Amino acid sequence: MALVEASVVPDDHAAKPAHGPGPELTVVIPTMNERDNVAPLVERLDHALAGVAWEAIFVDDDSTDGTREEIGRLSRIDGRIRCLHRIGRRGLSSACIEGIQASLAPFVAVMDADLQHDEALLPRMLDCLRQEPLDLVVGSRYVEGGGVGNWDKRRVGISGFATRLGRLVLKVEIADPMSGFFMIRRDAFDRAVRSMSAVGFKILVDLLASSSRPVRLKELPYQFRERHAGESKLDAFVAWEYLVLLADKLLGPYVPVRFVLFSMVGGIGVVAHLIVLWLSLNLAHLAFALSQGVAAGMAMIGNFTLNNFLTYSDRRLKGWNFLKGLVSFAAVCGVGYAGNVGVAKYLFDNQSSSWWLAGIAGAAIGSVWNYAVSSVVTWKRK
Ligand code: GDD
Ligand code: MN
Repeated sequence: MALVEASVVPDDHAAKPAHGPGPELTVVIPTMNERDNVAPLVERLDHALAGVAWEAIFVDDDSTDGTREEIGRLSRIDGRIRCLHRIGRRGLSSACIEGIQASLAPFVAVMDADLQHDEALLPRMLDCLRQEPLDLVVGSRYVEGGGVGNWDKRRVGISGFATRLGRLVLKVEIADPMSGFFMIRRDAFDRAVRSMSAVGFKILVDLLASSSRPVRLKELPYQFRERHAGESKLDAFVAWEYLVLLADKLLGPYVPVRFVLFSMVGGIGVVAHLIVLWLSLNLAHLAFALSQGVAAGMAMIGNFTLNNFLTYSDRRLKGWNFLKGLVSFAAVCGVGYAGNVGVAKYLFDNQSSSWWLAGIAGAAIGSVWNYAVSSVVTWKRK
C-alpha cells in the first residue's frame, strides 16, 4: 500500500503546473470609463491564454459609465476576473503599479482596456520570460514588424520626441519606452517599485529608470490597433505629467519634485501679487493696505488653483472639495505667513542679519511649512 502511494505522489506532483495552484500570470488592466471594452477584452484573453493559469485585475479609477458593474458581471461568470476600485485618485501609472502589487503571480502583464494592444502577443511574452534569462518583454511598435497604424504625422513626431527625451533617464536601450504593453517578472518589478515615481502615463519609462540594476529586456513587435469603444484619456496634460516624471527621475534623489512645482507656483504667485498690487494702486487708486490685501488674496487663490491643477493633478479637488480645499489652503498659508514674518523679524532684530538674509529665511520657512502642511491637510492622500 505504502509503495503504491509513494509511486502516486510524484506522478501527481508532475501533473501540477510548476507554479502551483495560483495563477502564473496576472494581466493588469487600468480602466477609466471603458464599459463596452471590458467584455470583448476578457473574451480575447480567454482565447489567447488558453492553457495558461491566468487572472485579470482591472484597476478602475471610479468610472461613471458602469465599467465596474460590467467587470462585476463578468467576475460572477469567471472567477479569474477581479477589480480594484480607486476613489479620489487618478493616473495610469499608479493604477498599474497598484494592480501589480495586488497580484502574487510570478509574471505580470500590463495592457490597455481598449483593445489597442494585441493580446495574441501575451503567450509569446510569457514563453520568453519562462525560457530566456529576461526580466521584461515589451510589446513594441518601433521594432521591425511593429507599427502605429494610421497615426497622423504630428502624433508620430510627438511620440518620437518623447522617446528621445526619455533616454535622459533610461538606463537601457529600448526602441519603444512609451509602450503601455509589457510583461514583467515579479522579482524584477520588486527591484524597481520602491523607487518609482508613479506619475502620469508612462509606467515603462518610470520602471526602467527606477530599477536598481539594468533590466534585461526584449521587444516583440505588434501593430497598435484602433481603439475599440469609448474615448482616449490622452490629453495635453499627459505631456506635462511626462515632464514631471522626467524631472522626478532626475531630481528625485535630491528634492521632491512636488516641492519644486509648489515653489515654482509660489514664484508665479509673487509676480502675480506684484502685478495686482500695481494695478490696484495705479489704475483702481485703492489705498495701499487694501491693495495689498486684494493682491495677497488673488495670489493665494491663483496659487491654490495652479497647485490643484499642476502640483496635485493626481489628487485634484473638484466641486465642493475645491472650495473646502481653498479654505484650508488659506488657513495653512495664513499660519505660514505669520511664521515667515515672525522668523524674518526675529532674525532682523536680534541676530542683526542683513535684511535680505532675514527675508529669504522667513520666505523659506513659510514655503516649507505651506508645502508640508497643505500636502497633508489640503491635498491629503485618500
Ligand atoms: N485607472 C486608470 N486611471 N486608468 C486610466 C487612466 C487613469 O487615470 N487614464 C487612462 N486609463 C486607462 C484607459 O481606460 C485605457 O484602458 C488605458 O488606460 C489607456 O488609455 P488611453 O486613453 O486609451 O491611452 P492611449 O491609447 O492614448 O495611450 C496608450 O498608448 C500610449 C502609446 O502611445 C497607453 O498604452 C499609453 O501607456 C501609451 O504610452
Ligand atoms: Mn488607447
